[in-house]
Amino acid sequence: MEILKNRIRQDGTVLENGVLKVDNFLTHQVDPVLMEAVGKEFAELFKAEQITKVVTIEASGIAPAIFTGLFLNVPVIYARKAKSLTMKEELLTAEVYSFTKQVTSNVSISQKFLNEEDNVLIIDDFLANGQAALGLVELCRQAGAKVNGIGIVIEKSFQDGRELLISKGLRVESLARIASLENNQVAFVEEN
Ligand code: G4P
Ligand code: NA
Ligand code: NA
Repeated sequence: MEILKNRIRQDGTVLENGVLKVDNFLTHQVDPVLMEAVGKEFAELFKAEQITKVVTIEASGIAPAIFTGLFLNVPVIYARKAKSLTMKEELLTAEVYSFTKQVTSNVSISQKFLNEEDNVLIIDDFLANGQAALGLVELCRQAGAKVNGIGIVIEKSFQDGRELLISKGLRVESLARIASLENNQVAFVEEN
């Protein structure tokens, strides 16, 4: 997606350890016009999949997920990382290990929001090692829901997430694929 790649070139900054800072438009301050275009693109890519729910994880997945749900005309569920006091009903829960933070955390969704009739599109802001996406796939599995696709705003193609998800038979569509962040330079995967 060219406007996204241009925005990354313009406003993204490369930190050490292969981390890309995009807090100007995605992970802290959010550009709604760009997010609208992102949501439209995901809706177009997955329009044949009969999606009934969009599932993401708090916090930075929520903005792109909302616009995707808007254009697919389906509800958006975000998995929560901390148990909320009002979440008294039965929860689907999965463990997610973060390589970046080196901690394991639990993510949860109320089971009332997902069932065996759902065709789910998982949306997230970043794909690195794929553990967050796998946790969401596991929540869908527990609900008996089908995962019909995974939409990623920024994929770090030099990490293992994409291969891991594809090896499980999942369809992964990433709007920007980064081949390398070496020498503080963003290099995108060449696509034809
Ligand atoms: P994984 O889910 O792909 O295995 O990723 P990992 O554990 O490495 O990443 C943990 C968190 O860091 C996730 O957000 C993920 O979206 C984010 N992340 C990974 N790589 C980058 C990067 O290069 N730049 C930025 N800005 N974020 C990255 P989180 O902390 O769980 O959630 P959130 O509340 O920030 O959305
Ligand atoms: Na995220
Ligand atoms: Na994030």
